[in-house]
Amino acid sequence: MKVKYAVIPCAGKGTRFLPITKGVAKEMCPIVDRPTLDYIVEECLEAGITDIVFIVSKDKEDIRKYYSIDKEYEKELREAGKDNFADIIHKIGAKARYHFVIQHEQLGLGHAVLQAKSVVKNDNFVVCCGDDICTYEGDSPVKQLVNAFEEVGEKTIVGGQKVPHENIVKYGAMGIKSQINERLFSLSHIVEKPKLEEAPSDLASLGKWVFNAKIFDALEETPKGAGGEIQLTDAIALLMKEEDVYYYDFIGKRYDCGDKLGYLEAIIDVALSRDEFRKGLIAHIKSLKLD
Ligand code: UTP
Repeated sequence: MKVKYAVIPCAGKGTRFLPITKGVAKEMCPIVDRPTLDYIVEECLEAGITDIVFIVSKDKEDIRKYYSIDKEYEKELREAGKDNFADIIHKIGAKARYHFVIQHEQLGLGHAVLQAKSVVKNDNFVVCCGDDICTYEGDSPVKQLVNAFEEVGEKTIVGGQKVPHENIVKYGAMGIKSQINERLFSLSHIVEKPKLEEAPSDLASLGKWVFNAKIFDALEETPKGAGGEIQLTDAIALLMKEEDVYYYDFIGKRYDCGDKLGYLEAIIDVALSRDEFRKGLIAHIKSLKLD
């Protein structure tokens, strides 16, 4: 396996999701019965990742608690004859090797990724934002990106999708050098949150990447950019001077769960995909007087 680490930055302040984020990490907000973050962890595990590196802030202890093995609680559940629940909570702690790295100052996504260097060292790794989930059939989007990473000789893959033209201003937009196959492109440049008339394409970066360790050198050289933050996109632009960078247009439905509407859409779609809720939920939606 060429990529065994996934780095999941979860140290952001979650301002867009206030007031809940005053007391609860947005990554821990539930989608039905699991935290948002766990859908991302599962997607990584399906891609063959064995080690998850969470980048957290000092006050996000609930993430560590969720992923730890709690032998006392398991014992209590088993003694009460609730083995099925004991098995469920055991699996959470046992399904991967977890690493926690604290980002002491919230200096941006690029800075958050750089904190993973102490664990990942010279290895390749996936990065997934802790608030972006996907639903999919077949290979997980992370798996698709890892396959593309191997296909191009272990060079950076920026994962994303085409967005409606007016929305590209919210994302990193891709400048295309050449199209390699239906979904894979080599890049000439990336523009973070471009003005509409300056966007080089409608291909947007959507919270998933695969890197080799060279990105750490680029991040160390990246000065503070937009919003006074160290931007991952700026580091990728720097890396591009040294080696080719690629874009993969992944298959799957992506939800921005750092945004309240995106989060609500994810809850509805995930609930509808589960047999135990589907019928009741459809009946409920039909009973609403919607116009
Ligand atoms: P966002 O851009 O959504 O930032 O980060 P945010 O601070 O979490 O949310 P808002 O914009 O204030 O509402 C994208 C991902 O990067 C992480 C976040 O936790 C999220 O998963 N992040 C962001 C960090 O880990 N550290 C940072 O300094 C910034």
